[in-house]
Amino acid sequence: MRIIIINGPNLNLLGKREPDVYGNATFEDFFKELQEKYTKIKLDYFQSNIEGQLIDKLHEVGFDYDGIIMNAAAYTHTSVGIADAVKAIKTPVIEVHISNVYSREEFRHISYIAPNAKGIIVGLGLKGYELALQAFL
Ligand code: DQA
Repeated sequence: MRIIIINGPNLNLLGKREPDVYGNATFEDFFKELQEKYTKIKLDYFQSNIEGQLIDKLHEVGFDYDGIIMNAAAYTHTSVGIADAVKAIKTPVIEVHISNVYSREEFRHISYIAPNAKGIIVGLGLKGYELALQAFL
């Protein structure tokens, strides 16, 4: 089984960025733990701050991989391009948000990705990525 985690803008700063909202762990450390725990899955990780690179990655993996776990971060709330890419590909996408976006500003309550996501996990911290992985399993 081949799964990829795709993270959007500013998530490269996890561990440093607003730790009260996003926690103290870096994504790299968390990802290593996931890989060590789920050795049967071929697990990849991609992060970009650039919308077009996220779209390119969805096109690249979206016809061969078994699952995509995507936290498009701020682009969730703005990007018709990413939403169209999620709709265009064959691989199912689970949308993840570390924070509970529904307890935050109203602009975070909108997701352009959600209508075409297989499922959504919100507000459970980094654990949400692992739960998405288990859902694909
Ligand atoms: C986020 C929530 C978004 O609103 C925000 O722009 C992010 C991270 C989350 O994981 O909680 O960058 O997607």
